[in-house]
Amino acid sequence: MKLLVTGCEGQVGEAVCSLAATEGIECKGLPQKKLDVTRASKVHNVLRRAKPDYVINAAAFSDIEAAESETAQCYTVNREGVFYLAKSCSRLGLPLIHLSSSYVFDGAKAAPYVEDDACNPLNIYGRSKVQGEHALKSVHDKYIILRVNPVFSEWGDNFLKDLLADSVIKRKEKFPEDQLFAPTSASDIARVIIAVIRQLDCDIQPWGTYHYSSSTPTSWYGFAQSIIEEAGHYKPVTLSELTPVESENYGYSASRPLNAVLNCTRILETFGIRQRDWLPEVKRVVRLCCQD
Ligand SMILES: NC(=O)c1ccc[n+]([C@@H]2O[C@H](COP(=O)([O-])OP(=O)(O)OC[C@H]3O[C@@H](n4cnc5c(N)ncnc54)[C@H](OP(=O)(O)O)[C@@H]3O)[C@@H](O)[C@H]2O)c1
Repeated sequence: MKLLVTGCEGQVGEAVCSLAATEGIECKGLPQKKLDVTRASKVHNVLRRAKPDYVINAAAFSDIEAAESETAQCYTVNREGVFYLAKSCSRLGLPLIHLSSSYVFDGAKAAPYVEDDACNPLNIYGRSKVQGEHALKSVHDKYIILRVNPVFSEWGDNFLKDLLADSVIKRKEKFPEDQLFAPTSASDIARVIIAVIRQLDCDIQPWGTYHYSSSTPTSWYGFAQSIIEEAGHYKPVTLSELTPVESENYGYSASRPLNAVLNCTRILETFGIRQRDWLPEVKRVVRLCCQD
């Protein structure tokens, strides 16, 4: 079995390549400089020559705030790029595993979101992810769209690493406490992707859209508290500086859904994939980052 991973220098891309290596799965990771997904003919030539069995699209314009001003680029990567990949995968008969986001929803639902709930994104990034899903489905039928919650990891840029960046943690004092989601580690997402692919490889082919996140939803405030508590084992921390705020007072340019909690029953019932708690992953990633 051979995997091809786009955006392999991002969080999920790194995690998939790393897990594939650990599990002895052949995996070709391509960073943006080797495969820009917005270049249609290049995409097709690279896929045709590489001859993978599965393509994992971990490439994205994922900066939610920047998307509000760099709108055209966001759509080019998250919609057109996905379209080119899907079209090429369809021509070559390759299954495509594509990452999407809980930010396709508006957060107004009073319960966790299921896959068939109506999308109604609140920001440009969310709109681009919805349109990417539509673009994919318009040209390909052998796909898995995996919608996930905010991601953290030892790789790339993310909330956890940003918090740990200072030697004494006191820089960011306020964190929204009214947005609910389950922070999910890139390594956990990689586990899910590889588990799905292993079953696809056994000719179980329930193509479609799935939700996956860690269990135990929290807020950015709750997530920050856990990170900082853990970081206290390794560096000086001023916990008194943490203040919960409402999202509308946080100074975002892009609105976020207040409820981004995903119902992950479909992936459990179809693939037997269970949600894991995020706290052990926070401990592992904080330890790795602080001991660097
Ligand atoms: N991060 C989150 O909190 C989160 C939450 C929900 C869903 N997701 C989704 O999960 C997936 C993976 O996210 P992530 O956190 O791993 O993102 P990430 O760390 O930002 O990685 C994205 C990667 O895509 C690359 N890229 C950007 N434009 C590209 C292009 N035109 N061609 C090829 N590669 C390109 C980036 O390269 P450069 O670094 O060179 O720009 C980067 O390496 C994305 O689909 C994202 O929308 C992420």
